[in-house]
Amino acid sequence: PAEISRIRNISKVEFGRYVLFPWYFSPYPECFNQEDTIYIDEFCLSYFGDLKSFARHRQKCTLQHPPGNEIYRDEAVSFFEIDGRRQRTWCRNLCLISKMFLDHKTLYYDVDPFLFYVMTKRDQFGNHLIGYFSKEKESTDGYNVACILTLPQYQRQGYGRLLIQFSYELSKIEGKLGSPEKPLSDLGLLSYRQYWSENIVDLLLTNSERDERVTIEYIATQLSMTTQDVEHTLQALRMQVYHKGEHKIVVPEKLIKQREKSKTKQKRLIDPDRIQWKPPV
Ligand code: COA
Ligand code: NA
Repeated sequence: PAEISRIRNISKVEFGRYVLFPWYFSPYPECFNQEDTIYIDEFCLSYFGDLKSFARHRQKCTLQHPPGNEIYRDEAVSFFEIDGRRQRTWCRNLCLISKMFLDHKTLYYDVDPFLFYVMTKRDQFGNHLIGYFSKEKESTDGYNVACILTLPQYQRQGYGRLLIQFSYELSKIEGKLGSPEKPLSDLGLLSYRQYWSENIVDLLLTNSERDERVTIEYIATQLSMTTQDVEHTLQALRMQVYHKGEHKIVVPEKLIKQREKSKTKQKRLIDPDRIQWKPPV
């Protein structure tokens, strides 16, 4: 039974104006497994096994944005901070959605110890969910992200980068070094590696102290990354050299060229000045 329960159980989901095809098992109530399609309200995240009851619900449901505080807004996106304890049902429903696209064990029941940072896109109909990350209220391991997801219809458009950047901006405000919870999925790892390398390269290229004095600790503090993540990234990019008995950090010419090229097509960034947030007490 444990093995069977891991087999993908939901075949099709209607979500707002999108149809989603789940990748993995998600623990929706068993009676939903028989449905061809399940319907999820894109704002309150309630789920329905048939169109009729969903339509009835839509007539009554007035929610047009995630619950919780809007802590960021720019021309493109907003972020809402949601307390798992205060919005238990909403957060559990979010985790159920998330599990359809995540292979590992993720939480979906005990949401109380987590805060959820939910990114949305606005139009005249409301604030539409793009993705989110969760974060332990108190992480003994110093994790700044537990779970992270861009809904499939929005993937590969730079939104994952925004989520990751936002998580590090919060760590900067907290004055802490952060790292995502392990293990990362393949897609998670690809996205983080990309974020880490871009930001380290940018820091080194714009840094006035662009010389031997730049240390791993310096980079870590500037970017709110752990020294371990900095070191792994430097190793992967072959940016550490040992010369005349000294360790130095250098940016290879090839990386500079690559970065200049990728920067011209990169549009989305979080503007840290627009974050209205204080670390929860
Ligand atoms: N193949 C190759 N590289 C990929 C990739 C893919 N499918 N997805 C992301 N990347 C890398 C790329 O370098 C990309 O930059 P580029 O598009 O300029 O080349 C970079 O990551 C950032 O991509 P972005 O578009 O910002 O990410 P995203 O919005 O697609 O979100 C995840 C990334 C991980 C959040 C998303 O794939 C996801 O939700 N996956 C399912 C859930 C999951 O695995 N979460 C992580 C759990 S630890
Ligand atoms: Na929803």
